[in-house]
Amino acid sequence: MRPRKRPTDIFPKFPRHAAYSTANGVMLKGLAENILCHSDLDSLKGKVQLIFTSPPFPLNRKKKYGNLQGDEYLNWLTKFGPMFRDLLTENGSIVIELGNSWEPGLPVMSTLGLKALLRFQEENDLHLCQEFICHNPARLPSPAQWVTVERIRLKDSFTRLWWLSPSTRPKANNKNVLQEYSDAMKYLLKTKQFNAGNRPSQHHISQTAFSTDNGGSIPPNVLTISNTRANDIYQEYCREHGIGFHPARMPTALPEFFIKFLTGAGDIVLDPFSGSNTTGAAAENLGRRWIAIEPTDHYIQGSMGRFDADLLHIPSAHKELLIDVELQSEIHD
Ligand SMILES: C[S@@+](CC[C@H](N)C(=O)[O-])C[C@H]1O[C@@H](n2cnc3c(N)ncnc32)[C@H](O)[C@@H]1O
Repeated sequence: MRPRKRPTDIFPKFPRHAAYSTANGVMLKGLAENILCHSDLDSLKGKVQLIFTSPPFPLNRKKKYGNLQGDEYLNWLTKFGPMFRDLLTENGSIVIELGNSWEPGLPVMSTLGLKALLRFQEENDLHLCQEFICHNPARLPSPAQWVTVERIRLKDSFTRLWWLSPSTRPKANNKNVLQEYSDAMKYLLKTKQFNAGNRPSQHHISQTAFSTDNGGSIPPNVLTISNTRANDIYQEYCREHGIGFHPARMPTALPEFFIKFLTGAGDIVLDPFSGSNTTGAAAENLGRRWIAIEPTDHYIQGSMGRFDADLLHIPSAHKELLIDVELQSEIHD
């Protein structure tokens, strides 16, 4: 049986900015600063469990989408704090990903990303619950001039994620993100033979410390994720429909990790700078509800390819976004 296509039930009234939706989520077209304070979102106040986002980076040169620079960027990002806080549940979380950037023409890093996050945290009275590193071992060497030409810097291969919350104890459960045990740990669990006693780190390891199988190991806050899948559904869809790829999309495993860690089934996840909607698709696949915001038509068009066409509800108000002929027959009023 074909899955039933129906608009999202997150809102009492279907929002006018909706470009497309599934039963679990909706892509809203527009600028986050306008949409987040629109009355359409009033009913969401206090209901969003996780805001997971990778905002436009504070670059020192213009990328394909608009990026502010310097103080303008600091002010712009900071002003989202009150809007985010209004939407969050009492034990909700905000996770912001920011990549590194470099000073133009110099082998030195910009500190703007760090300043932006500190200012966002301090001015919006948020707690820093934990910092994460997302390491991409397959990242190409960059900045090329300093790394591969002059050989005076190392390859820049990670982004930072800041987990913030108005609460000191936001909803979280690391049992939901356990990793497979290493072969050594599997052996240890099987044989129950290891060196108990004092370690140089001054930890005391008891006889029974590692004897229980907890279903996996607790991950470190350095996440190693290679973004190398050349033929994922998104890329296939974009190629097929002649849509350019989003230049800064994140690996699906990244939002998946935080959605599993910080939310439960049916919780609402918001990505206000959603680009190709990696977050919404991850939330959909994990049985969460989701809201994505993006102003750029062709990023929205490409993002539809992340969803099973049988699940998409497309309001007639945004039919101009449809380039997929099959989807054109799915327009709804
Ligand atoms: C770093 S990208 C996000 C990429 C996304 N995480 C993905 O996996 O595709 C930032 C996105 O924010 C969008 N953007 C820029 N200014 C915006 C604004 N004021 N409101 C909402 N989105 C904005 C850009 O068009 C861009 O797609």
